[in-house]
Amino acid sequence: MTTRLVRDIAELTTNDPALEDGNPRGRVTNAAMIVNEERVLWVGPNRDAPPADTVIDARGRAVVPGFVDAHTHLIFAGERSDEFEARMAGQRYDGGGISRTVASTRRATRDELRYASARRADELRAGGVTTVEIKSGYELTVAGEVRQLELAGELSDEVTWLGAHVVPEEFAHDRDGYVDLVRGEMLNACAPHATWADVYCDRGAFSVDEARAILLAARDRGLAPRLHANQLAHGGAIALAVELDAASVDHCTYLDDNDVDVLGASATVATLLPGAEFSTRSPYPDGRRLVDAGVCVALATDCNPGSSYVTSMSFIIALAVREMAMSIDEALWSATRGGARALRRDDVGHLSVGARADFLILDAPRAAHLAYRPGARVVAETYRALRCD
Ligand code: NIG
Ligand code: FE
Repeated sequence: MTTRLVRDIAELTTNDPALEDGNPRGRVTNAAMIVNEERVLWVGPNRDAPPADTVIDARGRAVVPGFVDAHTHLIFAGERSDEFEARMAGQRYDGGGISRTVASTRRATRDELRYASARRADELRAGGVTTVEIKSGYELTVAGEVRQLELAGELSDEVTWLGAHVVPEEFAHDRDGYVDLVRGEMLNACAPHATWADVYCDRGAFSVDEARAILLAARDRGLAPRLHANQLAHGGAIALAVELDAASVDHCTYLDDNDVDVLGASATVATLLPGAEFSTRSPYPDGRRLVDAGVCVALATDCNPGSSYVTSMSFIIALAVREMAMSIDEALWSATRGGARALRRDDVGHLSVGARADFLILDAPRAAHLAYRPGARVVAETYRALRCD
């Protein structure tokens, strides 16, 4: 395999505690890194860099790990900018528009969906995302959810079945019938195509008891649980996520003291999605409070056509810093290693020796520019390792 020397890195963020050297993010200044097509092989001072087959000259720019976006709904057709416009004029978000996307997605051909989803994946990649989780949840029929998962699987290994997104209109008078379909026939058909199972457990979606039943059935079929919780209201979903040892509980906009304590004592990551609060003009989750309580926090785009049509992780970092009182370093960690934890991955989200060689060269001397220059194209180059497992 060819080795590549990335030289003259003004500031290299590795997220490797072993490289701390007095700073918390494993940051090396005036650094170099050697990678091959798969892994990081060496990290150290520029002046000590051993030779390699080829050279990438960072020319005094910053390098950070590739972003790990652990929550997206990329597989959909249509758009809902009219709802966004209405919200900016004062209307509230209640998830009601999901059924519109279900209708347009069901109408789309496989190729139309494939093309639209791949374009969004390209946008994420151009903005520095090197690992992306993708959910189904916009068809809500057995065949449709399988189709969504197959298309997601063409774009990522982190595929999540979200058959329990909302109760579709044809089951409006038979929600128990829909829950039975989800736990039975739909799960059977979907399980081979996914790693994770997710439920939208919130006001207007599924109850804690319904979510528990669905996620336990999914766990029996080998799918690991994660949850959408407390985006719109307080509820018992945080405790449920911890009870099920969910890898991640996502949104966490409305938390009480007990929720924070329970999360802090658990292995469940809180994945915050401030694109949703931005796009729904809602109060932001209290990132500061969660970090201070020792909760492992991830940041993700939640890219979807309703509540967060966002494909820029830099923008998410900027929101976390500006609106959620996270430091720039904390936000960057949450967008990289935190996202990896939310997917229970140890091979991405950091640049320790042996990690996947997924990294970004920024058009800036310091990673701080990710938040300092919102809207600018700060991610200059995205490098993603070849599949290496
Ligand atoms: O994560 N909350 C549920 N699902 C999406 C929104 C879906 C939509 O509005 O289309 C979310 O915000
Ligand atoms: Fe979501």
